[in-house]
Amino acid sequence: MRKNIVAGNWKMNNDLAETQELISHLKLQMVKEPTAKVYVAPSFVNLYNTFQSLKGTVVNVAAQNMHYAENGAYTGEVSAKMLKSIGVNTVILGHSERRALFNETDELLAKKVNAALENDMEIIFCFGEELKDRKSDKHFEVVKEQLENGLFHVEKDAWKNIVLAYEPVWAIGTGETASPEQAQEMHKYVRSLVTDKFGKDIAQDVSILYGGSVKPNNAAEIFEKEDVDGGLIGGASLKAIDFLNIVNSFS
Ligand code: G3P
Repeated sequence: MRKNIVAGNWKMNNDLAETQELISHLKLQMVKEPTAKVYVAPSFVNLYNTFQSLKGTVVNVAAQNMHYAENGAYTGEVSAKMLKSIGVNTVILGHSERRALFNETDELLAKKVNAALENDMEIIFCFGEELKDRKSDKHFEVVKEQLENGLFHVEKDAWKNIVLAYEPVWAIGTGETASPEQAQEMHKYVRSLVTDKFGKDIAQDVSILYGGSVKPNNAAEIFEKEDVDGGLIGGASLKAIDFLNIVNSFS
């Protein structure tokens, strides 16, 4: 069901003490009934304590990644089954940093998507072009390929478990936020791709988040765009007040 969503991707930040401090600020300052569904995605080390600390609050917890195998000789990896065992039912897949720094291909992501769906997990599926793609006007083609090769093999009923997140790589961590018009243009295009492949109802129902230097001072103008349903927040999610201001940015 399409809804407004704000998810904080903490990436490789916050040790145990810093996590507990951030959570205490979030609990203190979070409005009782936010106008968006809220998630935070801590590192694996802090998933369990974060889940336990936020139980019963309006803040949900997501993992930043997972492996596709159920278990086995995959040193350093974490399975869907393990995430579910600690109560975490949402996972971010396809983040550009996983694609670029850890060589995650569309084919590998398709396997992770299948494993997440087989475990009835909710997926926040990331995609987005690099600056060179946009400069050469290939950004639509790149995004279409990422979706077709990594996600569009799913069955129609899988879409109840899928949230999309457009994150132009050139906007991540750079302070170079995409303009609201650029975000809307790509989100509208992505929604048209979902329409073509899965039908209008599914396309209208899927939440499409924007990520890439979303801050308290630009969130509202981005979130008000017709095909933008919220944001996937990196740096600004590490400060409770900034993250909460973004959560409260829906008009
Ligand atoms: O997953 C969200 C992240 O990639 C965006 O990072 O720091 O540009 O908000 P940031």
